[in-house]
Amino acid sequence: MSSPRLRDRHGRVATDLRVSLTDRCNLRCTYCMPEAGLPWLPKPTMLTDDEVIRLVGIAVTRLGVTEVRFTGGEPLLRPGLRSIIDAVTDLEPRPEVSLTTNAIGLERLAVPLVEAGLDRVNVSLDTIDRDSFKELAKRDRLDQTLNGIKAASAAGLAPVKLNTVLMRGINDDEAPALLRYALAHDYQLRFIEQMPLDAGGTWRRDQMVTAAEILEALRAEFDLTPDPAHRGSAPAETWLVDGGPAKVGVIGSVTRPFCGDCDRTRLTADGQVRNCLFATGETDLRDLARSGAGDEEIAARWCEAMWGKKPGHGIDDPSFLQPSRPMSAIGG
Ligand code: 5AD
Ligand code: SF4
Repeated sequence: MSSPRLRDRHGRVATDLRVSLTDRCNLRCTYCMPEAGLPWLPKPTMLTDDEVIRLVGIAVTRLGVTEVRFTGGEPLLRPGLRSIIDAVTDLEPRPEVSLTTNAIGLERLAVPLVEAGLDRVNVSLDTIDRDSFKELAKRDRLDQTLNGIKAASAAGLAPVKLNTVLMRGINDDEAPALLRYALAHDYQLRFIEQMPLDAGGTWRRDQMVTAAEILEALRAEFDLTPDPAHRGSAPAETWLVDGGPAKVGVIGSVTRPFCGDCDRTRLTADGQVRNCLFATGETDLRDLARSGAGDEEIAARWCEAMWGKKPGHGIDDPSFLQPSRPMSAIGG
């Protein structure tokens, strides 16, 4: 099959599709959403389940996408999640399907989602301390998160990956405790540097907990050696913990950018393609699809959107502009 692919003018090919299924969330992590929430996307502007399935189908069958990750907001809040996963895992060739979630609700949903075809989950877990959780996520729901993670693992979604963002003055002292917790349960932990994607625009470079700082904190308790396995397009640099086989990842999104290896394309809950988390422009596939366009035309528009992808995010450039959509409306 000589299908077109999602190439850009810097030689990258996108094969990993992130789809945001809702901009809503039941937490309010300070690096993402203000406590009062945000004006949510009006329902009619959001893709229906069938539209999501159609667009993902185009990406997989015509554009060479091999991995589909559903994100939010919180994707478990999407009523049609199960049937979307069911349909997407029936595509040929079958893509790998995963979820980035805060795990609240997974206790109930892990088994049905696995039955629908879900392959993996990445859970956002920033702290295992109840008070820090309340301070960081503005909700007292640590137990539900931890139970959700356990349920995911028990349902066969192992190895569960955990994503942690450290925030200065809230959970920046918890790196070793989180790693101990992950090792004890066989979860794969990755720390992510905080990126300027919060709705309030409060990110400050000089406040950010850096990858170097995280490694130093971990090294106070653990012996870390570089993981000989190749990094490829995975953004995490991984380290063997105390000689292995356990590993820990550090994603230096800001201080060690990996844009040159990026293989991602993104679709928002309202049907806009973004060629980068930090893109300032978007390409509308929703209205194109609703106007009766065929799959080929939609695929061509998607290719055009990716061709214009910038070489890097430029967070360190003086001219850097934070995207107007926050993370919760783009999807991780
Ligand atoms: N910086 C870094 N990571 C973030 N996430 C959400 N907002 C930010 C941010 N501003 C993380 C979430 C989730 C993943 C999708 O991205 O914690 O794990
Ligand atoms: Fe919700 Fe994820 Fe944003 Fe936290 S980071 S508020 S869990 S969407």
